[in-house]
Amino acid sequence: MADPVQSKPLHVMFTALPPRYDMINHVITLGMDRDWRNAAARTCLESRPNRILDLACGTGDLIVTIARTAKHNAELFGLDYSEPMLNIAQAKAKQLKQHDITFMYGDASKLPFPDGYFDCVGISFAFRNLTYQNPLTPTVLTEVYRVLVSGGRFVIVESSQPKSTIIRFFFRMYLRCFVYPVGRLLSSNKGAYRYLVESAARFYTPEQVKDLLVNAGFRKVTYRPLFFGAAGIHVAVK
Ligand SMILES: C[S@@+](CC[C@H](N)C(=O)[O-])C[C@H]1O[C@@H](n2cnc3c(N)ncnc32)[C@H](O)[C@@H]1O
Repeated sequence: MADPVQSKPLHVMFTALPPRYDMINHVITLGMDRDWRNAAARTCLESRPNRILDLACGTGDLIVTIARTAKHNAELFGLDYSEPMLNIAQAKAKQLKQHDITFMYGDASKLPFPDGYFDCVGISFAFRNLTYQNPLTPTVLTEVYRVLVSGGRFVIVESSQPKSTIIRFFFRMYLRCFVYPVGRLLSSNKGAYRYLVESAARFYTPEQVKDLLVNAGFRKVTYRPLFFGAAGIHVAVK
């Protein structure tokens, strides 16, 4: 029987991307993706969580950054449905001296963890994939809520919509005139970077993300813009 995960359209794309994925991310964000993940890692660690999941971890940069930043012992997990991405993540984690990270193949809409297992679920640049025009959005958010302990935190770093009309105009120009041609050239994957640019250009405002989270049961939802609102960090508490 076909694996239901592998029949999902984005799965094909994320299985094809990996070899140059990290390098292209650094180029198209002018290196800022590292700073944004660092900020998300610090936010995840603020509450000294004992068990942390990097959801849709890709090549593992968020959870590896958490491992490098953590000043306490925490159990660290990364989950993704792209095996090539997970292979790269595993290779990075092997170079860590202090922390072990458990990487798992799995689908965000059916998390292989018991209720209340994590004190923190972090997600970097994958919330848009899981929620924008995705019919499984309510299921994914219900799953994140389920695997968090009461009082646990969901930390999201994602592209966003700048509040100012002028900045939003330049942000969309940058997406279409820089990110798309550069991503297409470096990856030879036109479809993936068209999807990235169009979903980022039309993605939800911080207020709409807050509504999604509140409707899923989260409370105390906060938002911190990064780089004039081109990206931002949302925190939601179970
Ligand atoms: C844009 S990448 C972000 C990867 C990584 N978090 C980062 O910061 O670079 C999106 C990731 O989400 C994963 N993904 C998308 N939908 C998923 C799902 N339903 N279940 C698990 N992983 C998923 C993809 O395989 C991909 O690795």
